[in-house]
Amino acid sequence: MNLHLRDIANKHEWHNVRWFRRMAPVYDIVEIFARHIREKVVIDSGLSHGARVLDMACGTGAQSVAFAKYGFSVVGVDLSPDMLARAKMKVRNGYDVTFICRDASSVPYADSHFDLSTVSFGLHDMPEQIGLAVLREMRRVTKPDGKIVIVDYDVPRNALSAFLGHAVAKTWETVYYDHFLKAGLQHYLVEAELSAEEKENFVFANVQKVLCTNRKRT
Ligand SMILES: C[S@@+](CC[C@H](N)C(=O)[O-])C[C@H]1O[C@@H](n2cnc3c(N)ncnc32)[C@H](O)[C@@H]1O
Repeated sequence: MNLHLRDIANKHEWHNVRWFRRMAPVYDIVEIFARHIREKVVIDSGLSHGARVLDMACGTGAQSVAFAKYGFSVVGVDLSPDMLARAKMKVRNGYDVTFICRDASSVPYADSHFDLSTVSFGLHDMPEQIGLAVLREMRRVTKPDGKIVIVDYDVPRNALSAFLGHAVAKTWETVYYDHFLKAGLQHYLVEAELSAEEKENFVFANVQKVLCTNRKRT
């Protein structure tokens, strides 16, 4: 990581740890909207039993645990110790899940270690440069032709749906949300040399799930 990016990452970490210290106790309210998306991410992944899954910016671990319930071996990575403390409470006997506290733009795993990597509602909560570094790290540690699944905000075509979605999200979102919405997930994918092969919308098209294949450059 170059010095400029390190500086952005340090400032972001300082802000992020404090923000999610306040959010952690109430964060799981989002499961009212997100629970069915977690399940869909797992089922649509088409993974074989025992596959290795990386959940970047895993927060309180709902997506990690959804994978672990199906017998997958999961690593969840997050910058916030408070969010991770909540994630650990969700782990049950027999789940193969490890949570680690660190910046998701650099994880201690070898190239091609995971069958699938995912980031849900994470990219809009970090500066663009860090988000791109996270996507590139996902590409590095995911096997060639492995899946990369991204869940995050979308802008609905329906103006009323867009207005309401934006108004609700603004009540709790971080400083990076506006930039993410304006730039759009597609911009992040292009920059990280990923392409969406499948896209599905949820919550009146305010949320999108995008599935990519990790095509390695030759
Ligand atoms: C809105 S929460 C999403 C949590 C979870 N993925 C979900 O789907 O509910 C955003 C999470 O991103 C984490 N985060 C932000 N920047 C990060 C980074 N650079 N590395 C790791 N985690 C990060 C925050 O700590 C927070 O837990």
